[in-house]
Amino acid sequence: MSAEPLIPNRLDDENSALVILDQTLLPNEVVYRALHTNEEICHAIKTLQVRGAPAIGVAAGYGAYLGAKAAPETDFDGFYAHFSAVRDALAASRPTAVNLFWALRRMDEKVLSMKTCPVADIKAALKEEALAIHREDIAQNRAISEYGLSLLKPGDGILTHCNAGPIATSEYGTALGPILLGQEQGYGFKVFADETRPLLQGARLTAFELHRAGVDVTLICDNMASMVMKNGWVQACLVGCDRVAANGDTANKIGTSGVAILAKHYGIPFYVLGPTTTVDLNCPTGADIPIEQRDPEEIRSLWYEKPMAPPCKTFNPAFDVTDHELIAGIITEKGIARPPYTESLRKLFE
Ligand code: MRU
Repeated sequence: MSAEPLIPNRLDDENSALVILDQTLLPNEVVYRALHTNEEICHAIKTLQVRGAPAIGVAAGYGAYLGAKAAPETDFDGFYAHFSAVRDALAASRPTAVNLFWALRRMDEKVLSMKTCPVADIKAALKEEALAIHREDIAQNRAISEYGLSLLKPGDGILTHCNAGPIATSEYGTALGPILLGQEQGYGFKVFADETRPLLQGARLTAFELHRAGVDVTLICDNMASMVMKNGWVQACLVGCDRVAANGDTANKIGTSGVAILAKHYGIPFYVLGPTTTVDLNCPTGADIPIEQRDPEEIRSLWYEKPMAPPCKTFNPAFDVTDHELIAGIITEKGIARPPYTESLRKLFE
């Protein structure tokens, strides 16, 4: 990537802070915020200052560490009560991306495995665990990018929805990873970025990340995807994921399932890209994935000088579920899962 990398999460341990890139201000301002309290970190996740499933997981790991670091060094039970309150507050920040719960479970397991150790040692181990979650995500992104690139040809047209780039993860990204890696290798992809109503992650974040990396990116409104596909301009769809159920049904940003249905109609392969930390084998099907409902004002008035709708009812789910039958492959750091997903996803964990 040619432009200065943007870092969504960074631990500043000296100042007991999680430093995040405030994604709500992009593309107009690049602002980093130092978050010192668990309330601030939960607020940043809720308001999408830090967003994207893997980046939320990394933020949760650091949040759990910083919350634990602030705990008084009493006995284990006192420490664990404090840690549990921090963990539960983080877990309540957003419901759909499973990476959040995965990271918190991992931090919790670390604490419980050290019950007999001094609290100071537990805190030190939690710091290492949070850093490891972050490091592993970087490595996973790179592997996903390579697997994804192996499915593409130079000059391909690619359509993506929402933002699954470096700022939603740790480096490269998931859905944008093969595109950015291909850019470094001269693949000359032509990318169509859905603007992604209502929060415009495609316009504000994906178009921004690809444009600054020098990728040939064309921004379209969500309702233009069908025309672009019909024109023969798209050879593959690449999207990220917030939770993949055991049968391959996949939750991602609202509008993703419509893209998959269109892709099927036009005979275009539709790929989901994400680390195995986004696969939830405890969730049998997409019907079991909790879908976040968000503030009606995101539809009615956000981005407008005046409200653009009457104060009528709204329906504002943040995610939808793409049926596994529409997905040509699920690209993870451990390889590409193909249908039947119940079998291929389970094999990734063996
Ligand atoms: O509401 P958001 O912006 O957090 O939604 C993000 C998405 O849907 C992404 O596509 C998904 O988290 C994958 S990020 C690599």
